[in-house]
Amino acid sequence: MKVVSTIEDVRAQVKAWKKEGCTIGYVPTMGYLHEGHASLMERARKENDKVVVSIFVNPMQFGPTEDLASYPRDLEKDSVLCEKMGVDLIFHPEPEEMYHEGFSSFVDMTVLTEELCGLSRPVHFRGVCTVVCKFFHIVTPDRAYFGQKDAQQLAVIRHMVDDLSMDIEIVGCPIVREEDGLAKSSRNTYLSAEERKAALILSKSIALGKKMAEDGEKDTTTIVNAMTKLIETEPLAKIDYVKAVDGLTMQQIKEVKKPMLVAIAVYIGKTRLIDNFILE
Ligand code: PAF
Repeated sequence: MKVVSTIEDVRAQVKAWKKEGCTIGYVPTMGYLHEGHASLMERARKENDKVVVSIFVNPMQFGPTEDLASYPRDLEKDSVLCEKMGVDLIFHPEPEEMYHEGFSSFVDMTVLTEELCGLSRPVHFRGVCTVVCKFFHIVTPDRAYFGQKDAQQLAVIRHMVDDLSMDIEIVGCPIVREEDGLAKSSRNTYLSAEERKAALILSKSIALGKKMAEDGEKDTTTIVNAMTKLIETEPLAKIDYVKAVDGLTMQQIKEVKKPMLVAIAVYIGKTRLIDNFILE
């Protein structure tokens, strides 16, 4: 496995692989990798000749009051996991490599970014779209792998690829959970022991909403209200949003339809966690 930090080195390696007729699978990450990322790498490994993982804490997708400085980083541990998962190349650029002086071009999106995390994190998706678009141009993958835990991000990336006619297959992979239900996230490491217990309220409310929808509840407000009530029983939890949206447009819906995304963002202490379910 190679670890490189320049765009030039990635391009040279990918060019050589493509010359040999290899297909490229790509997993974009911000590092501090866990089993959720491993599941993306595993899928990429199965479906492609070569696997590239980028590890880059992208400053552009963090708001001024968010956790950019404290976001966990551990390249050594990440490299061990990548090696174990059969990754061929890690791209680990410095911010200056991605955003040179005078950088002033951005990829932005309307509609899909108006709800959910787009509302609470106004600059987030512009940063995600810009960096992912840039990585796509550098890595030129055949397929790129994203987790369903960031369901809005997955929908946004699919839409960007379609809108901008990018010749890349976007593969969405299921949420990976801890044994007790908590969705895996690099941000789980921020939680104290007490907060870790309290954080279970997210997956519990997701399970409740999912059961209601699957049992035939048609009114999204009834589902959202029941989930909200349950989350409010946890003293350490503060709701950012609990919403039911159209699974493609990310616009709020009143009546249950398919595909529907029910997504939540909840602060446990100072840590903002997200979770969701999709009714296909
Ligand atoms: O999901 C993430 O880790 C990030 O948003 C991504 C896709 C790597 C872009 O920085």
